[in-house]
Amino acid sequence: MPRGGALCPQMFFPLLVLFWSQWRTSCLNPCLEVIPGSIYRCMELNLSGIPPGLPNTTENLDLSFNLLRILTFNYFSLVPALRFLDLTRCGIQRIEDNAFMGLYNLSVLILTANPLQFLGPRAFRDLMSLQKLIAVETHVSGLDSLPIGHLTALQELNLSNNRITSLRLPEYFSQLIVLRFLSFQSNKISAISAGDLDGFQSRNLTLVLSKNAIKYIELNSFSGVYFQELSLRGCFESSAHMQAGLQNLSGLHANRLVLGAYRNADRLEDINKAHLDGLCHMCLQEIALVQISRIYHTDRLSDCLNNIHSVRLVNTDIEQVSQFPENSSIHHFELKNCRLRSVPAESLSSLKELRVLRITKSERYLTRFAEDFNGPQNLEVLDLSENGLVVSFGWSSLMEGLPNLKHLNLSFNSKITFPPECSGVYKLEYLDLQHTKLGKTGAFPSFLCLGNLFYLDISHTDICIVTECSFCGLDNLRVLKMSGNSFGGDELVGNFKNLTKLHILDISSCQLKRVTPIAFAHLHELRELNISHNNLLSLDAEVFLHLRSLTTLDLHGNHLATVTEQVLENLPTSLKYLDLSWNPFDCSCAHVLFLRWTKKPKDLLKHAKCMVCHSPMDLKDTRLMDFDLSSCQISKTTVAVLVTTFLVLILFAVLVYKYYFHLYYMVVLLKRDHVSTEKENIYDAFVIYSSEDQEWVTRELEETLEVGVPRFRLCLYYRDFVPGVSIITNIIKEGFQSSRKVIAVISPHFLESRWCNFELEVAQSWQLLDRKASLVLVVLEGVDNAVVRQKLGLFRYLRKNTYLVWRDRELNRHMFLRQLKSALLEGKTWTEDELKLMLTN
Ligand SMILES: *[C@@H]1O[C@H](CO)[C@@H](O)[C@H](O)[C@H]1NC(C)=O
Ligand SMILES: *[C@@H]1O[C@H](CO)[C@@H](O)[C@H](O)[C@H]1NC(C)=O
Ligand SMILES: *[C@@H]1O[C@H](CO)[C@@H](O)[C@H](O)[C@H]1NC(C)=O
Ligand SMILES: *[C@@H]1O[C@H](CO)[C@@H](O)[C@H](O)[C@H]1NC(C)=O
Ligand SMILES: *[C@@H]1O[C@H](CO)[C@@H](O)[C@H](O)[C@H]1NC(C)=O
Ligand SMILES: *[C@@H]1O[C@H](CO)[C@@H](O)[C@H](O)[C@H]1NC(C)=O
Ligand SMILES: *[C@@H]1O[C@H](CO)[C@@H](O)[C@H](O)[C@H]1NC(C)=O
Ligand SMILES: *[C@@H]1O[C@H](CO)[C@@H](O)[C@H](O)[C@H]1NC(C)=O
Ligand SMILES: *[C@@H]1O[C@H](CO)[C@@H](O)[C@H](O)[C@H]1NC(C)=O
Ligand SMILES: *[C@@H]1O[C@H](CO)[C@@H](O)[C@H](O)[C@H]1NC(C)=O
Repeated sequence: MPRGGALCPQMFFPLLVLFWSQWRTSCLNPCLEVIPGSIYRCMELNLSGIPPGLPNTTENLDLSFNLLRILTFNYFSLVPALRFLDLTRCGIQRIEDNAFMGLYNLSVLILTANPLQFLGPRAFRDLMSLQKLIAVETHVSGLDSLPIGHLTALQELNLSNNRITSLRLPEYFSQLIVLRFLSFQSNKISAISAGDLDGFQSRNLTLVLSKNAIKYIELNSFSGVYFQELSLRGCFESSAHMQAGLQNLSGLHANRLVLGAYRNADRLEDINKAHLDGLCHMCLQEIALVQISRIYHTDRLSDCLNNIHSVRLVNTDIEQVSQFPENSSIHHFELKNCRLRSVPAESLSSLKELRVLRITKSERYLTRFAEDFNGPQNLEVLDLSENGLVVSFGWSSLMEGLPNLKHLNLSFNSKITFPPECSGVYKLEYLDLQHTKLGKTGAFPSFLCLGNLFYLDISHTDICIVTECSFCGLDNLRVLKMSGNSFGGDELVGNFKNLTKLHILDISSCQLKRVTPIAFAHLHELRELNISHNNLLSLDAEVFLHLRSLTTLDLHGNHLATVTEQVLENLPTSLKYLDLSWNPFDCSCAHVLFLRWTKKPKDLLKHAKCMVCHSPMDLKDTRLMDFDLSSCQISKTTVAVLVTTFLVLILFAVLVYKYYFHLYYMVVLLKRDHVSTEKENIYDAFVIYSSEDQEWVTRELEETLEVGVPRFRLCLYYRDFVPGVSIITNIIKEGFQSSRKVIAVISPHFLESRWCNFELEVAQSWQLLDRKASLVLVVLEGVDNAVVRQKLGLFRYLRKNTYLVWRDRELNRHMFLRQLKSALLEGKTWTEDELKLMLTN
């Protein structure tokens, strides 16, 4: 055997083969396998072609940052099932005809950052399913040269960062009937003339022209064209140019127009009221002004905004909102990321039509809110999320100013305090307070006046639910989200008693240690229950019993070691989603029922891969789905063995009981060797008989044999047995060992007695062992001959034995006595005393 690191040749060869095959596979497929057989990432691997090791089922392939240079005929033949192909920055200069041959299912093609010089006229043939073509930064200088006219499934075409100079769409665009999105961002379009937009007629397109240095727009060139969205951010070199450009855009119809600048390329300075006046000649649903700096006051903005339904001001320096004219038709007003310090309730009160007001993402500035609204009677949505509000609210002052408010979002603010009292019935339906500290002055906020509330989010608001009446008054609540809070005693009791209409309840991350069986007893309509990330150690058997409509139950990330059979049985039948992952499961065989249940194929269990054993130690981190149930079946065989042993023991006990005497006798026989066997014969005969026949024995044997001449000595148990010694020892020692002969008095009683039968059997076997003793069988009257034959068997006929039948008649008795005496005389030796006694007689 090789020692000290030497490798023997027999081992070396297989290792070499192993290394070779590993090296070969990694060479053939050096890519990262994201989902085997389907998703491969081959970024930055200096590849110059498709790695031959990729399976032909690959659907999603990222080849970005390689060096492919030229895509030749049928380049992707190895991966015909592709749906997504990323060729970003692959140095591709040429795409030849039929390069994508056979990729009938390709839906997304990314060609970003390739210096394309040549595109074959049939380069994109076969890509009939292509929906998204991203050709950003690909040196495209004109749309005419793009061979995409046949891509009738195309929905999105991104041609940003190219060298396109004209907006004029070629003829073939009329075939791209599902095109929805077209981006010419950062191109070289500087002039738009009438006729350039002919291809856009009746299209409902989103057109991005941002970051083109537009110098000239022919008057009315957009007239009659309808856009879903038109983006013109960063297109004008100054505010004055924007003003002129907007004037010439008159007649434009758009759902949304986006104007403004970019953060680091802000060229719109000193905007004044007149600069946006062009908007008055357009037909817009929504205007978004993005990144307009150095406007601090809304009255610097054109009055034309008042004609537009929806006004959004994003990333501005606005510090003050001025009064709007009475006849303003703004329905929806939004200020996202501005510099307001307090909610301009008073100024906005003049907006009679206002339905939706959002002032968001101004966390550094917006801290104050005095609820002095009086007027926007129609306001339904008030979104003040993601600010720095520190407010003490009065429900009544807020709701009286905004009587139709249905939707209030105060999430992600600093601190909001509600008064404990609250009366009246308000129309509020949605209330979002998540991630805003709820001040504890006056204990928990009272919701008594929110009988119409439908949706309440108080997640991560630092509250601790202690009273039973925390949710009193919320009679119509359907959704309650309150993750990241806590409950008194870390226990869920009757807090949700009156929320009988609840559909969704999220109490994740609430430090719950226990959920009492009554906690959900009234939530008959509940569909989704999220108790993930708590500290539950076990589940009460009836805790989910009443949730008859439940479809989703999330219990992941608790401390459950198992789920008991009763809980599994009580799971609602409507359940479709059950997440038990990330619990420290105990995989010992005591929980085999649960382990078996998890293995049954079912769609119900989600994230089953993350259900792993925590104990016992040797199974730690084994997935439940990989757990070997047969390891628990050993205990089954153990049970079988135990049962069999038990049965054998019972059988043994029964046998011992039945053959007790025999066993005892065996023991005695075995002892016989040690004890001196030869004892002097004190008796002439040992009489074995049933105590029922005592009278007969006394009369016919004792009184006749022990009295007359010759005189015999009988061993009779009632007289001669030594007291204090076990009966069986007496039988052996006093009876058999001390007697020459054995007289068995066989009567019906004898045959019924277990003792007598035993004695008879001992006598028989004794006779066989110790040749000397012989048997005198005396059969009394009334004994069934057949039984006698069966009992005594051949012993009747042994030469040594005497077989006598006793009958109660004078003649027979005489005969019997003679025969008995001669049987007893056989082999008798006389003692001197006896001889003397006989002579004197
Ligand atoms: C790719 O090749 C370049 C030089 O040609 C080298 O610097 C780089 O390390 C190579 N990258 C890999 C991943 O092999
Ligand atoms: C993929 O390759 C297997 C053999 O490796 C072949 O049987 C199968 O037809 C191929 N599928 C396609 C779509 O080409
Ligand atoms: C394309 O997709 C269809 C259905 O989605 C599938 O049946 C077919 O096999 C796919 N074609 C290739 C080449 O994978
Ligand atoms: C189009 O490409 C540009 C540049 O890569 C990107 O900023 C923009 O988000 C893309 N548009 C879409 C809708 O993907
Ligand atoms: C325009 O397209 C958008 C989606 O891009 C759609 O929501 C809208 O209804 C369409 N409008 C018309 C008038 O077709
Ligand atoms: C607006 O249109 C007029 C008339 O066609 C033209 O003279 C002017 O230069 C255009 N302005 C811009 C900024 O294109
Ligand atoms: C609103 O009233 C002003 C005068 O106060 C008027 O100039 C303007 O045209 C009106 N706007 C609308 C949309 O009615
Ligand atoms: C409230 O605002 C936050 C942050 O903008 C948002 O995530 C949440 O969905 C809003 N809530 C509702 C009910 O719309
Ligand atoms: C629950 O509702 C009943 C009647 O709808 C009402 O009597 C009881 O006070 C309510 N209990 C709580 C705790 O809100
Ligand atoms: C339950 O809540 C946790 C944490 O809040 C979240 O990650 C999980 O997706 C939720 N489960 C469901 C089914 O929505």
